[in-house]
Amino acid sequence: MSPPTAPPPPAGHARRLILGIETSCDETAAAVVADGRDVLSNVVASQHELHAEYRGVGPEIASRAHVERIAPVLDEALAQAGVTLADLHAVAVGNRPGLIGALLVGVAAAKALAWSLGVPLVGVDHVHAHLYAGCLVPPHRALPAFPALGLVVSGGHTAIFLCESPTAIRRLGGTIDDAAGEAFDKAAAILGLPHPGGPNVDAQARTGNTRALELPMSRLAPDSLDFSFSGLKTALLYAVKGVPSHRGRPGTPPTGVSVPDACASFQRAVVEAIVFKLNRALERHPECRTLLVGGGVIANSALRAALERLAGERTLDLRLPPMPLCVDNAAMIAGLGHQLLDARAWASDPLSMSATPTVSV
Ligand code: KG4
Ligand code: ZN
Repeated sequence: MSPPTAPPPPAGHARRLILGIETSCDETAAAVVADGRDVLSNVVASQHELHAEYRGVGPEIASRAHVERIAPVLDEALAQAGVTLADLHAVAVGNRPGLIGALLVGVAAAKALAWSLGVPLVGVDHVHAHLYAGCLVPPHRALPAFPALGLVVSGGHTAIFLCESPTAIRRLGGTIDDAAGEAFDKAAAILGLPHPGGPNVDAQARTGNTRALELPMSRLAPDSLDFSFSGLKTALLYAVKGVPSHRGRPGTPPTGVSVPDACASFQRAVVEAIVFKLNRALERHPECRTLLVGGGVIANSALRAALERLAGERTLDLRLPPMPLCVDNAAMIAGLGHQLLDARAWASDPLSMSATPTVSV
C-alpha cells in the first residue's frame, strides 16, 4: 500500500509545506519547509550529553532517546511554523545512511504520519541532504547553477560529489579511513578536550600557532579525490605523547606542544587536505561554477574562511550554510525531499520503504 500522489494544496495555502524528520545519529530533528526553500521551523534535540562519557555515539542509547524525543520535537516544529498536521503536503525522512536503530525511529514516525494524513512519503539520503542545506538560506531564493561540486564533511562522512541537479548526485571520492569530524573528535580526545571535539579544537585553535607542528598531508594517488586522516591523527598522537622505543628502535619524547598550538596545527592540516582535494576536483570539473558544502565540520571557522577564499579565487557561487544548518537537521531533509518529489511528480515512496545503514553510490 502506498500513500497518494500529488495532493492538492488545501484551501488557503498557496505553498507546499513539507515536514522533515531526521534521526540518523544523535540528533532528533523535525522541521517544516515551504516550497523547498523557506525554513518555517527547524527544531533539533541534541543528545550530546548522553554520549559524552563514552566519547562517541552509543547506538542503543541514541535509539532510545529518539523514541522519547520524537513526538515532542514534532509538536514543537509544527508549533514554531504555525501550522497543523492538516496543513502538510508531504512527509520527508532521512532513511539512509546512519545507525539502523536510530533511522528506524524517524522512518516509523514518518510512515505513520504520511499514512494517517494521506500525503506522500519521501525517503531522503542524509549525506545528499547536507549538500542542500546551503540552498535554504536567504538571500538565495533560487536554486544555484548546476552542475555543482559538492563537499560533505561531518562526523561520519567526508566526500566530494558531482551534482548534476539537486537530486542527481554522484560521489567522486571520499575518506578511506576516518571522516574529518571523527579525526577532530579523536584529536580532541588525544588533547584531553571534551566530546564532541570539533568545536573545542576550533575554539582552542583561535589562540594557537598553525605552524607549531609540521603534520603530514595525505595526497594519495596523483589523480585521487579520496581522503585519509588516520596518519594525521597518529602524527598528532606522537607529537603530544612521544613515540615509545620499540624493538631496539629509539623512541622520541613528547614535543611539549601547547594545546592551542596543537589544535591550530591539526586544524590547518585538515583544512589544507580538504582544499587540496577540492582544487583537484575543480580542475577536473571546470564546468562546475557552484560549490555546495555541508556537514558539521563546515561549522569550523578555519574551513569556512578557506572555502570563502577558494570561492573568491575561482569565482564560484559558494553556498555556505549557517551553523544550525551545517550540523544534522531536518530542514535539509525537507528541502531535498521537496526536490525529489518535484522530480517524480509527487509520487510517494511505498510504506514498505526501508531504512538503510549504508551510503548511496
Ligand atoms: O553533520 P554532523 O552534525 O553529524 C554527522 O552527520 O556526522 O557532524 C558532527 C561532526 C562532529 O565530529 C563534530 O566534532 C564536528 O562535526 N564539528 C566540528 C565543528 N563543529 C562540529 N568540527 C570542527 N570544527 C567545528 N567548529
Ligand atoms: Zn550529518
